Amino acid sequence: MERRQFLTRSAMAGAVLAVGGSKRLMSQTPDAFVEILPEEQLGTIAPEIYGHFTEHIGGVIYDGVWVGEKSKIRNYGGLRAEMVDALKKIHPAIMRWPGGCEADSYNWRDGIGPRANRPVHTNFWEVDRDAKRLNEKGKQIFETNEFGTNEFMNFCKMTGAEPYIAANVRSLPALEFDNWVEYCNSPQGSTTLARMREADGSRDPYKVRYWGVGNESWGCGGFFRPEDYASEFRRFATWIPQFGLDLELVASGPNGNDIDWTHRFFEQIYTGDHAYHNAQFTGWSVHHYASTRRVDALQFEPGEYYDILSQCAFIDTIIADQWSVMGQYDKQHHVKLVVDEYGPWYREGTEVDITHLFGQQVTLRDALATALSLDAFNRNPDKVGVATNAQLVNNINALFLTHEEKFVKTPNYYIFDMYQNHQGAQAMRAEFSAPSVHYSYKEKQQRLWGLNGSASRKGNVVTVTMVNSDLAAPKQTHVALRGLNLKSATAVTLTNPDVHSHNTWDQPNTVTPVALKVDISGPVLNLTLPAASVTKIEVTLG
Ligand code: AHR
Repeated sequence: MERRQFLTRSAMAGAVLAVGGSKRLMSQTPDAFVEILPEEQLGTIAPEIYGHFTEHIGGVIYDGVWVGEKSKIRNYGGLRAEMVDALKKIHPAIMRWPGGCEADSYNWRDGIGPRANRPVHTNFWEVDRDAKRLNEKGKQIFETNEFGTNEFMNFCKMTGAEPYIAANVRSLPALEFDNWVEYCNSPQGSTTLARMREADGSRDPYKVRYWGVGNESWGCGGFFRPEDYASEFRRFATWIPQFGLDLELVASGPNGNDIDWTHRFFEQIYTGDHAYHNAQFTGWSVHHYASTRRVDALQFEPGEYYDILSQCAFIDTIIADQWSVMGQYDKQHHVKLVVDEYGPWYREGTEVDITHLFGQQVTLRDALATALSLDAFNRNPDKVGVATNAQLVNNINALFLTHEEKFVKTPNYYIFDMYQNHQGAQAMRAEFSAPSVHYSYKEKQQRLWGLNGSASRKGNVVTVTMVNSDLAAPKQTHVALRGLNLKSATAVTLTNPDVHSHNTWDQPNTVTPVALKVDISGPVLNLTLPAASVTKIEVTLG
């Protein structure tokens, strides 16, 4: 928003507030103004928007999630205990596994049965590796299958996350998909695969509802044309054993915002002689990386900072464009968006261990990028059904960095912690008015909004989350909640004077949330948002 436009809007807002009984504000012009419209409810924010992704790649599973039962590192049946404990606190709603690209190379049968008997195979990411990444155990390149379906289910159970499995379309037949579903979901004693699962330690079925049918089928998942992938999808998604569950099948969506892929796939599925109506097809996967694999995770200029945020903010356009194309075929919008990979992706060099392919440090910049993505999902609760951040640990945009016994929470962890009130809450429309930020990137003048965010209500608690993208200017901000009786309010902010700040083994608390002063005046909250910050306000209603 331009400054002149902003001033007009904030003056109007001031007048509105005066009518609302807050005369004190009439004399002030804040730097930013937020108006929450409680009567304009947008829908329930799916808890599954607060999900994570764990692929067999680099240091995500081995050296990340899984340390092994015999490890000196504290563990729960082989799972890194410190991470499980931390994850539980942020209530991860859903966990995607085993890929990513690895999903279309993965044979689930290799990861069941006694661990000692499991075969060793080449991991998909061997193709993108450098010999230096081969550690002494070789797990990052040669998949030992120590961590398989049962270990993953145990991880989900312990952290409270719903499992979301991506099935192999490129290199296994459809029958193996059916069999994996049967292994996971068939009732005790009912099938040979159920008995195998029981022998592996779980009498009760796992009740896995979310299944991805391939991954990036336009790329590593088979380089399909959309028409061909639609045929494969039909074959894989027809007559999957249900076992009384409402399965949620996720089709492999576009590369970024490629609407041609979406048009051509949906046309095949929804129109003509071969229209295919399957109530279980409920998800359309979208991957959106802010990808400048030339830019460093730790060393960056202001232009590179704003560019990453702008790229991430493009998710709003992707959501709107994809939704609009899908609606041309799926008129009732039965299928929702599943943003199952998102986050900034930098060049290599800041990984905490050489074996961690795509490992990168996570700074305050990335926390803002993650927060603005979550805010975009919150603002579109009718469209986005699931989102899983890529990836949980030792990879792109991670929440945790680990190596052997070392463990640290990145700034992203604190964003998921701050935002968890939104899970399952009613989203409310909120208008954010602040001057745009102007910056120069690659010798061009560019612009990004100065303030954005989302608001929701659960019972008598209203949560407002906000990103102040401006590197230099704090914002004195008025947040108006018209028609609500505000009893009390608290605020926390995640910030640091240096946007390159990040948490390390030696200094794990450099970027952690701190309390922020917030005043209530009638229906208006008044607070100052630090430059380059993410802030959460929690308001208790009377
Ligand atoms: O997250 C890393 C990789 O990025 C995933 O395996 C793939 O789906 C995407 O291209």
